[in-house]
Amino acid sequence: MTQANAIIVGASSHLSKEIARKLAAEKVALTLFVQDPDSLKEFASQLETEVNVLPLNIEQPVEIIRQLEQEWQRIDGAHLVLINTGLNGYNETLPWQLEQDIIDVNVTGFTAICNTTFRLMREQGYGQIAAINSIAGLRGGPSVAYHASKAYAQNYLEGLSMHAQRLKLPITITDIQLGLLDKAAMQQSKLWLPPLAKVADQIIAAMKKGKRKVYVTKRWRLVAWLTMMLPEFIYNTRHWKTKKKK
Ligand SMILES: NC(=O)c1ccc[n+]([C@@H]2O[C@H](COP(=O)([O-])OP(=O)(O)OC[C@H]3O[C@@H](n4cnc5c(N)ncnc54)[C@H](OP(=O)(O)O)[C@@H]3O)[C@@H](O)[C@H]2O)c1
Repeated sequence: MTQANAIIVGASSHLSKEIARKLAAEKVALTLFVQDPDSLKEFASQLETEVNVLPLNIEQPVEIIRQLEQEWQRIDGAHLVLINTGLNGYNETLPWQLEQDIIDVNVTGFTAICNTTFRLMREQGYGQIAAINSIAGLRGGPSVAYHASKAYAQNYLEGLSMHAQRLKLPITITDIQLGLLDKAAMQQSKLWLPPLAKVADQIIAAMKKGKRKVYVTKRWRLVAWLTMMLPEFIYNTRHWKTKKKK
């Protein structure tokens, strides 16, 4: 394999597109997995590299495994697989279906992608798996299954990294702990939320350096540290609210 190949799973988000644009500018050939391939065709046609857009069936693990294997064979392996899939939701009644959907995407689907990629990279002899994760996984939170799923992802990635070291394989596992990134960030807000290009640049720089874990943007490292240190009676802001007078 002479040309650098990268696979982005969950390529429809603004952040994935920004990263795809930057990798394409470096002439990295791309495979973009997305729920609705038609929605990405115009974007893909503007990239300055070879691009293949494929459907993503993350809720059907057997199917995503088959799709990854097939594409891997077609492009003769990849240097990088970036996973940027995720489902979040909040409903105070905690309906089971929402929890199930989050687990299907963030746990079962995520594991199928990581597990398959690791196996393919093991056969290939090298590679890098990077996943866009969240500092939400550091503690429990109101989107109960979401927070728990991000803790799972963090542990799974750490385990894969340990496994690669045990097998003495040059497979790099990069856990990208993203802070807040919402619509304001996408509108280039100059406040606490960082601009998307800066987020993408920091992610690409961390992947190039082969970092094991990185907080993006960098200042979220401090928030992460505080989040882990705080005792529950401070972390749980419910305790701060003054009790209503009877
Ligand atoms: N947004 C934030 O503020 C924030 C903060 C910290 C961490 N993160 C992390 O960043 C990652 C991406 O999240 P995001 O907020 O940027 O979300 P997003 O824009 O909605 O992107 C999520 C991606 O996952 C795909 N996806 C979701 N459900 C799917 C399903 N059932 N089948 C196939 N694909 C599915 C989406 O595809 P479609 O667009 O086709 O549905 C999309 O490509 C997640 O790991 C999240 O934890 C986000």
